[in-house]
Amino acid sequence: MKFFIDTANLEQIKDAQDMGILDGVTTNPSLMAKEGITGTDNIMKHYVEICNIVEGDVSAEVIATDFEGMVREGEALAELHDQIVVKLPMIKDGIKACKYFSDRGIRTNLTLVFSAGQALLAAKAGATYVSPFIGRLDDISTDGLNLIAEIRHIYDNYAFETQILAASVRHTMHVIDCAKLGADVMTGPLSSITGLLRHPLTDSGLEKFLADYKKGN
Ligand code: G3P
Repeated sequence: MKFFIDTANLEQIKDAQDMGILDGVTTNPSLMAKEGITGTDNIMKHYVEICNIVEGDVSAEVIATDFEGMVREGEALAELHDQIVVKLPMIKDGIKACKYFSDRGIRTNLTLVFSAGQALLAAKAGATYVSPFIGRLDDISTDGLNLIAEIRHIYDNYAFETQILAASVRHTMHVIDCAKLGADVMTGPLSSITGLLRHPLTDSGLEKFLADYKKGN
């Protein structure tokens, strides 16, 4: 299972990268705005900075919602760095742009996916990644994890190569449940990764080992 971090915060990206377990980064316009990164030039520079920190894929989202605009923006993003994956919205022109890019060997991530039907379309269009937003489904009393299971089932039926990127992951149990269901990737905040470290028996056990060592030395 690949671990992506869902942030545009460089310190958090470095922190996860330093642990040696990071496989990539996802961003979106909201995450960029949260870090105060505004304006096309600054946003483009920020993507390059992120690519220089991590070794894996970095999803960079288009703003355009029409086919020609998505192609123009996506090509400019893809030229920034070979780690860039063009992130496209799950709308009709997004699917069309996804097919355009996949035909040309440019990797894509179909975002804002909330149904199995949308995920099926993403796979048909040759998306590299599909991003079902599980946390936002949970927010409206719908089982986000069930969507991961549905997509896994459908993709396995036809050996679709599109990778299921569980997005809008909010906490450690989302990560563990996505791993059980066979999501290829999860993207979440740093806390959803570092939270996996914690166990009180690890802390008390280590404390005891160190105390016993000190007694004999
Ligand atoms: O990966 C998608 C993500 O950025 C959305 O997360 O927590 O805003 O639903 P959230």
